Amino acid sequence: MTEVAVRHEPAMLAAQRLRVGRSLVKLCDRSLGAVSPRVAEAIRYSLLGEGKRMRGTLFLSAFEAAGGSGEAADLAAAIEVVHAYSLVHDDLPCMDDDDVRRGRPTVHRIYGVATATAAGLTMVPLSARCAAESARALGLDDEAVGAIVVELMQASGAGGMIGGQLLDLEGEGRPLALAELERIHRAKTGALITAAATLGGRAASASHVRLEALAQYGAAVGLAFQIADDVLDVTATTDQLGKTAGRDLALQKSTYPALLGVEGAKKRAEALIDEGCRALDAVGLLTPSLAQIARFTVERTS
Ligand code: IPE
Ligand code: IPE
Ligand code: MG
Ligand code: MG
Ligand code: MG
Repeated sequence: MTEVAVRHEPAMLAAQRLRVGRSLVKLCDRSLGAVSPRVAEAIRYSLLGEGKRMRGTLFLSAFEAAGGSGEAADLAAAIEVVHAYSLVHDDLPCMDDDDVRRGRPTVHRIYGVATATAAGLTMVPLSARCAAESARALGLDDEAVGAIVVELMQASGAGGMIGGQLLDLEGEGRPLALAELERIHRAKTGALITAAATLGGRAASASHVRLEALAQYGAAVGLAFQIADDVLDVTATTDQLGKTAGRDLALQKSTYPALLGVEGAKKRAEALIDEGCRALDAVGLLTPSLAQIARFTVERTS
């Protein structure tokens, strides 16, 4: 796999991104044995594309902030598997119907819709299994391992990512009120980013108070992340994004810039990252790396 720099990414986060990327390669090498060859190839293509690995990096930063010891990159990779699956299905013709992702043709454009659908479906249990195995390898007990897998699957499920994705599709072609759009964004994107933060704390056996602060930070940064994504959809080019710019307008989606203007949306995202960082600061968890992730969320150009 070739790894290139992500523009405006602080060096500390680049190092974590590379660790997550290496764990994803390992995961593909070790865990796809029972998967039919073409579906396995599609999964590899999806997982090893050049993503920012924001959720994996956030997990590792939260883990380290909360005093976790040991190499947790394999657990970070399991979170990235759920994220990558969400992208494979998000791009399908029945969802956002996109041709470009991470600077390359989308999975279904290379492997066909049936294989891309099967790849996504295979990635959900794959991520649960890899999360359990890597949590156990960190020395966590059965109760902690179970709690981690349940939390990851809940964040991915009907009350989280996939529920938000369905609401997003139902919202196409009709103007949504800001409160409704916020609810969708918090579910489709915020839930998994929140889980990345809290799972970092859980894997480091953080206190309840610290887990609560990580959840507040994750929810705020997660919403800011999707607001920034909406902004970039109208301000950046397809080349910069590695995915088709202007897609939200074409699909008649409600977005933050459409409702608040580009400047208004950026201000809301800034306020959210401040809110998230304050929550961490109050419990002594605002490390440079978690502060940089918050900043990168709103300053990134892809
Ligand atoms: C894109 O996520 C989909 C959203 C939830 C906004 P990313 O912007 O994290 O995509 P990659 O992983 O870097 O490709
Ligand atoms: C997708 O939001 C959120 C997911 C859970 C995948 P978008 O549909 O805006 O993501 P992009 O812009 O295609 O990456
Ligand atoms: Mg979408
Ligand atoms: Mg999309
Ligand atoms: Mg988008």
